[in-house]
Amino acid sequence: MTVTYANVDGSSDPARALEWQERIDAWPAMQAYKRIAFERLEGARVVLDVGCGPGEDAAAIAPGAAVGMDSSRLMCERASTRVEQVVRGSADRLPFRDEAFEAARADRVIQHLADPETALHEMARVTRSQGRIVVADPDQETLTIHVPGVPTAITDKLKELRRDVGYRNGTFARELPARFREIGLRDITIDATTLVLTDPGDAFGVPSWPIQWREVGGFSDGDVALWERGIRQARRAGMIYAVTYFVVAGTKR
Ligand SMILES: C[S@@+](CC[C@H](N)C(=O)[O-])C[C@H]1O[C@@H](n2cnc3c(N)ncnc32)[C@H](O)[C@@H]1O
Repeated sequence: MTVTYANVDGSSDPARALEWQERIDAWPAMQAYKRIAFERLEGARVVLDVGCGPGEDAAAIAPGAAVGMDSSRLMCERASTRVEQVVRGSADRLPFRDEAFEAARADRVIQHLADPETALHEMARVTRSQGRIVVADPDQETLTIHVPGVPTAITDKLKELRRDVGYRNGTFARELPARFREIGLRDITIDATTLVLTDPGDAFGVPSWPIQWREVGGFSDGDVALWERGIRQARRAGMIYAVTYFVVAGTKR
């Protein structure tokens, strides 16, 4: 599910990726960190939403004023049903002039990029002086998983793979404050909220991770069988899946 968002249109099921995005965006825990990210824009309306996905956020920030941008044709089409201005392009080469926006934001996008640093520079470039930059991302190092009956060694391996293989930059979120400093932003703030899930069906494809990463993780038939039994009973038995989302914001000088 995760590498999917690095190239939605080229993924095995783009329509499902879009539907999943809209589904999880409505979860209360997602809305909680998104509210913080909106507040950190400090009232800016002419906002560039980099990797806008289905466009709900750009529509919520400022209908008619915020601009959505995404590399996926499918996401741009869906965003266009909600947002007046949607542009297709890539985060590492934003198709906008310098200082065109009051603010730039990216929500769960930086983690998918091959070159996150260039994307941050680009966001700063297109933001006017005294404008806001707001980035939200989970850090996969914060991932907690407990599936009753499954040995910790298996769960630990899966968490490691999710962090290091599942994303291009699964731990870039923790670097954001330092990166913001490097590009000269001031008044940097860090907020964090934790998503907690108890249904394996919600947990980002977790039931199939040992199969998906069987080779790279070195999982045996026995490991897979233990995992599958644990997942079948997980909801009743008290599974927990939790990950922390960071919202880092700063002001351009
Ligand atoms: C996890 S989704 C988040 C969508 C949206 N920000 C939200 O919060 O609902 C990641 C989005 O980033 C887009 N994306 C991935 N790589 C990109 C790139 N290089 N440039 C622009 N958008 C990109 C994907 O197409 C996808 O729509």
